[in-house]
Amino acid sequence: MKAPERFSALPDYAFPRLRTLLADVPPGASDPIEMTIGDPRHDPPAFVGEVVAAEAAGFRGYPPNEGAPELRGAIADWVGRRYGTRPDPETQILTLNGTREGLYNVAMALAPERKDGQRPAILVPNPFYQVYAVAALSVEAEPVYLNATKATGHLPDLDALDLALLDRTALFYLCSPANPQGAVASLDYWERLLTLAERHDFVVVADECYCEVYRGPPPPGVWEAVQRGGHDPNRAVAFHSLSKRSNLAGLRSGFALTGAQNMVRMRQLRAYAGAPQPLPLQMAAAAAWADEAHVEANRALYAAKFEAAADILAGVPGAEIPEAGFFLWLPTPEGLDGEAATTTLWREAGVKVLPGAYLARDTEAGNPGDRYIRAALVAPLDDTIRGLSRLRDTLYR
Ligand SMILES: Cc1ncc(COP(=O)(O)O)c(C=O)c1O
Repeated sequence: MKAPERFSALPDYAFPRLRTLLADVPPGASDPIEMTIGDPRHDPPAFVGEVVAAEAAGFRGYPPNEGAPELRGAIADWVGRRYGTRPDPETQILTLNGTREGLYNVAMALAPERKDGQRPAILVPNPFYQVYAVAALSVEAEPVYLNATKATGHLPDLDALDLALLDRTALFYLCSPANPQGAVASLDYWERLLTLAERHDFVVVADECYCEVYRGPPPPGVWEAVQRGGHDPNRAVAFHSLSKRSNLAGLRSGFALTGAQNMVRMRQLRAYAGAPQPLPLQMAAAAAWADEAHVEANRALYAAKFEAAADILAGVPGAEIPEAGFFLWLPTPEGLDGEAATTTLWREAGVKVLPGAYLARDTEAGNPGDRYIRAALVAPLDDTIRGLSRLRDTLYR
């Protein structure tokens, strides 16, 4: 039987590509430093293990599909504290095994097969978290990549969008704080996007999984913009995660927040095809959403690393300290693209970063990640300082 063509144009995932790029390149240091993957390495809150142990009897049965009431309640309380309006946990929240599966399944649940007789488009910022594109391809929509460059504040330029494209748009993915650039959408930006969604009848998919890792004011969220503008909550689906907020990437816990109408479809799909999170893990997640002390401590650890980064990279042309998230999105030096800079850095200094192009797609205006590398500040402060100092001295001396 012939294999499906749906995914045949997909490039290899970023990390296998990086392994291939560096396969024959020995590291230029006896103590290599890994700055590629966004895998949190600070400690998760200690109470998580205790809650899982205390709730272990809950492993016996099938867990509730849409999330235990305790977890949905804790999430609704958190949304209320964070964004000022508490959603209805009965009808507006769905818990997930991490947000990645939800970011994928939302397209299955909400994107129509045709829109006004045409193949729908799914808009994706470029560069982007790769699941958005696969979600679009899975529902046979056309993924359309919107370059988000320094010139556009590292977010898609909403004023440059073609009206005919917006008319056939089903979903518009936006990541704020953005991975990889760390740009934050303002409330005005979210509201303009919601207004476009209303005018052209599409749904905003807001990936906000970095929203608790910030340096300045807390990034506003799409839920806040929905309330402020009096928009229909079905115009947006917000995704939140404990992975970065609480250093619990291994717990696999996140949630989707939207209007009751979308929620019916999302829950129905999950009832047929989803894998709910084990109950003891849901209870641990509820405890994590209810606690802010560990989140503040986590934020302070990242803030110290970004302060160090600002000192170390002070003379590097184009280096920006992002408002939020835990990545640096650094322009490469003259004459080197992202792959060449990555290879040079590994060969000469044993520091591993990711070529920006692996997180972006080629477009008519080029690949917006070509002349960038991404460095994750997830290692302890000392390693981060050593890694960034070597990076500066190797690439920008
Ligand atoms: C932008 C973005 N969205 C979503 C995720 C998925 O997070 P999780 O599935 O752990 O909630 C990640 C993880 O790296 C990410 O960087």
